[in-house]
Formats: sequence, structure tokens, C-alpha cells
Amino acid sequence: MLALSTSFVSIMVFVYVSAAQSVAPIYGQCGGLTWNGPTTCAVGSTCVKENDYFSNCFPLSTAYTPANAAAQAAGKLYFGSATDASEFTSSDYYYSYYLKQLGQLTPENSMNWNATEPEQGVFTFAGGDAVVGYAQSNSQLVRGYNCVWYNQLPNWLANGVFTVAELTEIVQTHCGTLVGHYEGQVQVVSDLFVHSWDVINEPFNDDGTWRSDVFYNTLGTSFVSIALEAASAADPNAKLYINDYNIEFAGPKATAMMELIQTLKASGVPIHGVGLQCHFVLGQVPDDLQTIMEQFVALGVEVAITELDIRMTLPATNELLIQQKADYQSVISACNAVPDCVGVTVWDYTDKYSWIPSAFPGQGEACPWDSSYVQKPAYDGIIAGFQS
Ligand SMILES: *[C@@H]1O[C@H](CO)[C@@H](O)[C@H](O)[C@H]1NC(C)=O
Repeated sequence: MLALSTSFVSIMVFVYVSAAQSVAPIYGQCGGLTWNGPTTCAVGSTCVKENDYFSNCFPLSTAYTPANAAAQAAGKLYFGSATDASEFTSSDYYYSYYLKQLGQLTPENSMNWNATEPEQGVFTFAGGDAVVGYAQSNSQLVRGYNCVWYNQLPNWLANGVFTVAELTEIVQTHCGTLVGHYEGQVQVVSDLFVHSWDVINEPFNDDGTWRSDVFYNTLGTSFVSIALEAASAADPNAKLYINDYNIEFAGPKATAMMELIQTLKASGVPIHGVGLQCHFVLGQVPDDLQTIMEQFVALGVEVAITELDIRMTLPATNELLIQQKADYQSVISACNAVPDCVGVTVWDYTDKYSWIPSAFPGQGEACPWDSSYVQKPAYDGIIAGFQS
């Protein structure tokens, strides 16, 4: 009896010590077949099994409002994020409660031209299919991204020399095949296919002139209507967008985009939306964002915030994070005030996969969740914006 009770006590001590040393945070992983981490949840949460490979810590009483639910309560279609197949290799990301809670996904790179048609006429869809498959299994919408962009082109195209007829056929084949591959592979909401495509990405320089690239240099401005017509033929139900940055405030680039939309509309070319990317700098959210969106809507298109992030010079301080909360809130409030601003996409929800640190050295912390999937004050700003 004495020996038994001693060993019982030592087992209890061992269990208590190991649990205290390693506790999964709220919404953190707490179980799964290949999981070696903590299986005890933080105070106030409990471990809930999602599948054989993943359990996570759900709060016992939750104050957490999913941003997509807040967006839909405000009459928007979605709150979503950029993501990509390469990010799915991280199991904490792939099984993230927050990723699954989003209403919409945009593949960040894997539908770009060099990924989908690396050799002329040879199409590969593996990365895009992974994102669309993930979205379908979580009842999420997809924004296709993108058909025609000056960047991330395969060499055969970027450095090729083509006649007008040749390049017209190349654009038609690419847009038609890419959009056609995903036609119908989308969620149906209210009997409408709400899936949209950024058919044209970043056609303008900041001064409102057209970018010099193989498309404009060969086809002039007609590459826009060629691509839109091909996309429309491939998926008549998709909302077709032109997407750009630095059109979120009055200036030559916004004016050029408005003139393009008017020209396309007047010519009967299918165009349904303008994507405002919204890659902003902390403290510099344009105060005429709502006015600009209203001006686009007045031309007969819907608008969406397609690539929102708000970067700061590191290190992040409490003061900067509070400013970031106000900035996120003002962007979301602007969309909220415009009924035809249909949704908001952040350019990755977590800093873990943000493009900012590599594109803007010394800057970062641009996303609403930090690199450990913890919500920042910015998240509360998003919710407040949808509730404004
Ligand atoms: C496409 O181009 C970008 C930019 O040059 C590059 O980072 C990316 O790796 C390329 N993707 C493929 C699949 O070649």
C-alpha cells in the first residue's frame, strides 16, 4: 500500500509539471496523430478535435467575432485573405481555425502566368487547384488572380516578339483556358456565382500612363478588352475586375482607371468591378478612399478591397499597433459606407506569410494576425469597421 501510494503521488506530480510547462494558447493546436506539442489548453479554453490530425483550443465562452461573420452581418459578401499552396505545407497554417473562418481566398502567386503557362500552350494548375480545393472544402469564395499582369511572366512571353495576331491569340488562349479551368468550381451564394477574377492587374504607372510591357507595346490598350472578352466567354457568371494600387485616392492613376472603365462600359466590354489593392503605410490611409470608391461605383461597377495590409517601420510598439488599429478601422469603415464595396481581402491574414518584409526591408507587422496567429489590435479595428 505504501509503495503504491508513493508512485501514484509521483505520477501526479509529473503530469502536473509537464502540463504547466507547455500549454497551448487559445486557438492553438492541442492534439492530432503527428502532434508532439502541448495537449493542455490555456485557461478559459478546451481542446476540441477537428479531425485525426488536428485538435485546437476553443475558448469556453467566446468574445471572438469571426471577421467574415462581421462582414456578412454588415451586408458584405466576404472577409478573406491571400493564401497559397506553398503556405499549406505548414500544418499550423493549413489547419488554422482562423484560415478556415475566412469567407474568401485569393491565390497569391499560383495562378500567375509563369505558374500556369510556363511554356506556351502547356498549362499547369496544381497550385491554383490546391487553393480552390481548400476553399471548397471550407465553403469559401475564391477570387481568381490573375490573367494579365506585367509581372511574373514566363520568359517565352516577357522576352518574345509577336505580331498583333499572335499575341491576341496568346492572351485569348491564356485567359480562356485559365478562367475556363475554374469555371463552375465555385461556391454558389444566393443562386449567383460570386466568384470574381482580377482579369487585368496593374495596367497603369503611377502617373496614369500605361505600363510598358509586351501586352501594351504590342497590342496598345486593346489587350484589356481582348482579355476581358476571353474571360467572359470562359465563365459568363464570373465578376470580371481590373485591379491596381495607388488608385485609392484622387490623382492621375485613379483618373486613368476611371477613364478606362468609362471607355470599356461605353464599348460594351464586360467589366464588373474595380479592385483597390490598399497596400497602405501606417498613418497614411487616404481620407478620400470612400469618395473614390463611390466615384467608381457611379460608373456602373462594384468595388472590392483586394490586397489590404498596413505596414509599419519595425519594431512594432504599442503606440504603432494602436495607430494600425485605427487605420484598419478607417479602411473597413470606408468599404462599409459604400454598399457596392462587396468585400475585403487582406494580403495574408498572418504576418507569417506577409510579402512586406522582403519587399520593404525594415518594415512589417502589416497583417491583422501576428506570425504566431495571435490577433493584433488591428483585428478589433476590422470588427469595429464592419460594425460602424
Ligand atoms: C514567377 O516569377 C516570380 C517573379 O520573378 C518568381 O518569384 C516566381 O518564383 C516565378 N514562379 C514560377 C512558378 O516560376
